[in-house]
Amino acid sequence: MEKFYTLNDGSKLPMIGFGTYNEQFEDNKKAILDAIECGYRFFDTASLYETERPLGTAIKESGIARNEVIIETKLWIDEMGADNAYAALEKSLNRLRTDYIDIYMMHWPRQTGAPDENWKELDIETWKAMEEMVRQGKVRRLGLSNFLPHHLKNILENCTIKPVVDQLELHPGYSQEAAVAYCKANDVLPMAWSPLGRGRENAMIGNAILVRLAEKYGRTIQQVNLRFLLQKGILPIPKASSVAHMKANMDVFDFELSDDDVSMLSCMPQTAWLGEHPDFVIPDRKSNPENI
Ligand SMILES: NC(=O)c1ccc[n+]([C@@H]2O[C@H](COP(=O)([O-])OP(=O)(O)OC[C@H]3O[C@@H](n4cnc5c(N)ncnc54)[C@H](OP(=O)(O)O)[C@@H]3O)[C@@H](O)[C@H]2O)c1
Repeated sequence: MEKFYTLNDGSKLPMIGFGTYNEQFEDNKKAILDAIECGYRFFDTASLYETERPLGTAIKESGIARNEVIIETKLWIDEMGADNAYAALEKSLNRLRTDYIDIYMMHWPRQTGAPDENWKELDIETWKAMEEMVRQGKVRRLGLSNFLPHHLKNILENCTIKPVVDQLELHPGYSQEAAVAYCKANDVLPMAWSPLGRGRENAMIGNAILVRLAEKYGRTIQQVNLRFLLQKGILPIPKASSVAHMKANMDVFDFELSDDDVSMLSCMPQTAWLGEHPDFVIPDRKSNPENI
């Protein structure tokens, strides 16, 4: 299997990225330095996560050239609208200690409390500003996160620069087949957040279907999850703080799930869904004003 995905602008992304959502890291910078050491070169962060600063510092301290790593970050729902988006980008660049972002994303399609009829206009206004950031050379490519087909359609119908990726919660038990199919039909690479179902004990680790498949292939449940996503043409961005986990998550290119097993995982009952839905359960979190 190739170890890169080719995006709709012809550029390439490693098939596995590294997630940096900080809930479980004890030391953000150390975890990212370990990940660089393990060979990860594609990093996902967001203004919301408070891992932009440690990511920028870790990249500098690692000595790795800036053009050898791919940095993906996102503006949060309270940073939407043209003026807010330009300001958000400058803060992200500053925290990441870089003068360009490789992939800049809109994190969520709807603002908390925004009247429903306005979300399309706000998404377009924000996207136009993001396109201008590309023209200014501060951003290389644009992406989306948590955009379902009707949100993505709004962007595709109104954009000059097409999104290269759409990041969605995707794992066995929440494989959002319709959203993935829509992305693929429009040449937008689907990317999986929480590809390991955030390690949920009963829902994911103890799931009987996954336990059985892990035994059958002689791999861990997490490796089966990642392999499932790769075989469906999805790019996973697992988060790990343990070096053993970081290595295991890269070690998924020498086995293959059968078509029947991929089909079974695609159709298994819903499990380990995080519980946030872009239209109906909008996270009530704010970007941290201290995070400047
Ligand atoms: N766009 C969005 O709205 C959105 C939302 C959520 C997340 N994300 C992104 O997606 C990334 C990944 O999602 P996530 O952090 O929620 O969860 P995840 O990657 O599904 O799961 C992380 C958990 O799995 C454990 N783990 C990792 N590798 C393992 C292995 N090989 N064996 C056993 N356990 C393993 C980790 O433990 P240890 O830490 O102990 O190694 C951690 O507890 C985030 O970090 C973030 O970058 C995006």
